[in-house]
Amino acid sequence: MAAEIGASFRLDGQRALVTGASRGLGRAAAIAMAEAGAEVVLAARSAAELDALAEELTARGLSARALPLDVTDSTATREAIAREGPFDALFNNAGGNRPQPFLEVDEATFDWMFALNVRAAYMVSQAVARGMVAAGRKGAIVHMTSQMGHVGGHNRTVYCGTKHALEGMTKAMALELAPFGIRVNAVAPTFILTELTRGWAEDPAWRAEILPRIPLGRLGTPQDVAGAVVFLCSPAAAMITGHSLLVDGGWTAQ
Ligand SMILES: NC(=O)c1ccc[n+]([C@@H]2O[C@H](COP(=O)([O-])OP(=O)(O)OC[C@H]3O[C@@H](n4cnc5c(N)ncnc54)[C@H](OP(=O)(O)O)[C@@H]3O)[C@@H](O)[C@H]2O)c1
Repeated sequence: MAAEIGASFRLDGQRALVTGASRGLGRAAAIAMAEAGAEVVLAARSAAELDALAEELTARGLSARALPLDVTDSTATREAIAREGPFDALFNNAGGNRPQPFLEVDEATFDWMFALNVRAAYMVSQAVARGMVAAGRKGAIVHMTSQMGHVGGHNRTVYCGTKHALEGMTKAMALELAPFGIRVNAVAPTFILTELTRGWAEDPAWRAEILPRIPLGRLGTPQDVAGAVVFLCSPAAAMITGHSLLVDGGWTAQ
């Protein structure tokens, strides 16, 4: 019995698309998904990094290949996903943040963040879901949101807007895709050490402000998030849809 439960946490036989797989949280999740048995397609703009990761995983006997792609180009994205799919799982992770005080936010920053974090995430998941439905495949979509999709944060009006939007889309997509056996969930991390946050984390004042707000007393690691993604894509999460799994060390529990 224990072995059967353990097996349900694996992704054997799944084809998974991971966006933003060239570094940070996407890279860590792609590695974890491949280790859990999935064939992983690695998407981002940095072809050399994707090739290196695919080679690294393949050398370990795992299954991975690179798909260089700018997800904000919706035509290229639709074509690539139609060509490479159908998929059983999507980790819809590509995203970014350029913090600015609300009174100073400029339109270019607003448009860039909504184009990447919301519009591209929407189009990627629509294209993947269309492929799943056309192929009659049940599957799992995991959107990368943030604790900032649940609460507010200083200098994060735009980022919070994008991640709250994605949280709402998660619930609405879950309703529409449930009849097809496609589950849609979100992972919502606290601050995790990646290229995105490294500069901030080097600032002692930033650490002094942030660390006391995380009851577990540390920043997250990419591996902390990767486990949640594997779980949500796995048969162990078969009855979970429309949910946002906070990986926040207790930030939002206060
Ligand atoms: N780090 C954190 O503390 C934290 C916390 C909560 C949520 N998140 C979310 O987690 C996700 C990943 O963050 P991260 O910390 O891993 O950031 P990161 O290290 O900056 O990585 C961002 C990833 O997104 C890809 N990307 C950016 N623009 C793209 C585009 N137009 N087309 C395709 N790929 C694109 C990048 O690849 P290329 O540059 O090669 O295209 C890269 O692989 C984001 O959605 C972020 O909002 C991060």
